[in-house]
Amino acid sequence: MKIKELEFEKFISEADVQKKVKALAKQINADYKDKTPVFLPILNGSFMFASDLVKEVSIPCRVSFVKVSSYQGTQTTGQLKTLLGLEESSFNQDLIIIEDIVDTGLTLQKIVEELRSLGTKSVEVVSLLRKKPARDKNMETKYVGFEIEEEFVVGYGLDYDGLGRNLKDIYKSTN
Ligand code: IMP
Repeated sequence: MKIKELEFEKFISEADVQKKVKALAKQINADYKDKTPVFLPILNGSFMFASDLVKEVSIPCRVSFVKVSSYQGTQTTGQLKTLLGLEESSFNQDLIIIEDIVDTGLTLQKIVEELRSLGTKSVEVVSLLRKKPARDKNMETKYVGFEIEEEFVVGYGLDYDGLGRNLKDIYKSTN
């Protein structure tokens, strides 16, 4: 399969994704048995994973989508990221961030720090995929679906230049 100039091959099937989603939800159901967590899916990439995951969650929970903005700081130190759309009702709750993929983990690190500074009961992360750099750094991600190498992947919400989010399976680039 080709998206723009990149060639992709099937990597993780829809069936395997769904099996993993159920297993992750089962763990969350057990860990949050007596709690009412707030899921914070990070747009856009996690919309499909979040939708499937929360359908398998059987404990009471809330879902509130957020977005990460990146902007150029006034200094030349690179990009600062901040969370957009966080509702006040999410403060002082048990939060579970839903991510599609953690690569370097820099985005997530900043978000977790920001949420903790707002006075939350707890903050954990569930990510469908985690790449090697985040794994090596031991980036805190309590629930991980698939550990992968440094492949570039699309499908199931993940995109290449905005394309490929609609695919049911996950594909990796062969270039
Ligand atoms: P990090 O800050 O390096 O962990 O970047 C994480 C974000 O980069 C993810 O939420 C994705 O939006 C994007 N990303 C990283 N790797 C991939 C990939 O292989 N395919 C599509 N998007 C990716």
